[in-house]
Amino acid sequence: MRSKILDLLREAGDSYLSGEEMAKRLGVSRTAVWKHIQELRRDGYDIVSHSRSGYSLQSAPDTLRPEEIKNGLRTRRIGREIRFYPTVDSTNLEAKRLAQQGAPDGLIVVAEEQGKGRGRLERSFFSPAGKGIWFSVILRPDFLPQEAPKCTLLSAVAVAQAAEDFGMKVGIKWPNDVLADGRKLVGILTEMSAEMERIHYVIIGTGINVNIAEEDFPEDLRDKATSLSQLKGEEIPRVAFFRAVLEHMDALYDSILREGFAEVFSMWRRYSITLGQMVRVIDARGGKDAFTGRAVDIDEDGALLVDTAEGRRRVLAGDVSI
Ligand code: BTN
Repeated sequence: MRSKILDLLREAGDSYLSGEEMAKRLGVSRTAVWKHIQELRRDGYDIVSHSRSGYSLQSAPDTLRPEEIKNGLRTRRIGREIRFYPTVDSTNLEAKRLAQQGAPDGLIVVAEEQGKGRGRLERSFFSPAGKGIWFSVILRPDFLPQEAPKCTLLSAVAVAQAAEDFGMKVGIKWPNDVLADGRKLVGILTEMSAEMERIHYVIIGTGINVNIAEEDFPEDLRDKATSLSQLKGEEIPRVAFFRAVLEHMDALYDSILREGFAEVFSMWRRYSITLGQMVRVIDARGGKDAFTGRAVDIDEDGALLVDTAEGRRRVLAGDVSI
């Protein structure tokens, strides 16, 4: 009902719409309309009213509520269904719970705040209220499980494309850290449930630091992390940025399902700040096998190819420093 009321007010543009007219069009009582208007106002919608002419929507808050995100969202699969939480333990955990109950391909879970934001390698992820975009997408592609890790690249590319739309230049460090000025802007955690031959679901969890000032970060993160607002020098509208990310993700996912990962790989190469650089690789098992070399490309599995003095090494998982 909330989103239907908002749709009507948006359709009306600058003109006023009476409570009676809305009630008639929505098949509810005028009191019900009035109650929803009060609730919307409490949530930060600026709705003015005139005793004769009715209501008019002046502005909407920059909250990640489904009715805001869906307003004008042009996607086929991703974000057609949205679950929103003012606060949640971790959007990845919630997405996993929903996926186990049969949530569909493309469903997204988004939160204003995470109490237990999770990072790679069992680390925690800083996710303060109202300042970022913390979300997870459930995908159910029908390709083989070994293809799934490549889906991770999709999210990094989509955020880099959205940043470009908003006039910012960012880079991707292999495999999927999005960086600006050498500091981390976005973290991505991909998790999967599968059998040998079949994927049950893939969850891509993405955390975008949007409007976080340097002093808002815990001290140990200040020289490692940054945000879009620090990069641009002004606040970034979260809903509009999120819509751009979802639209890029949707287009990339569509290209993956139709013709494989070629498009994602070529875009990834475009934004890569790893390729061509001397890198130090610490493998995923915790540094027993560390080596240095020049990163030359990614292969058809998304593995990083590194030329070392002893020959070419293929890195499937690990930490890379430039
Ligand atoms: C990393 O860089 O180590 C990965 C961080 C992933 C953070 C995102 S925020 C949304 C989703 N929910 C989580 O608990 N983690 C991911």
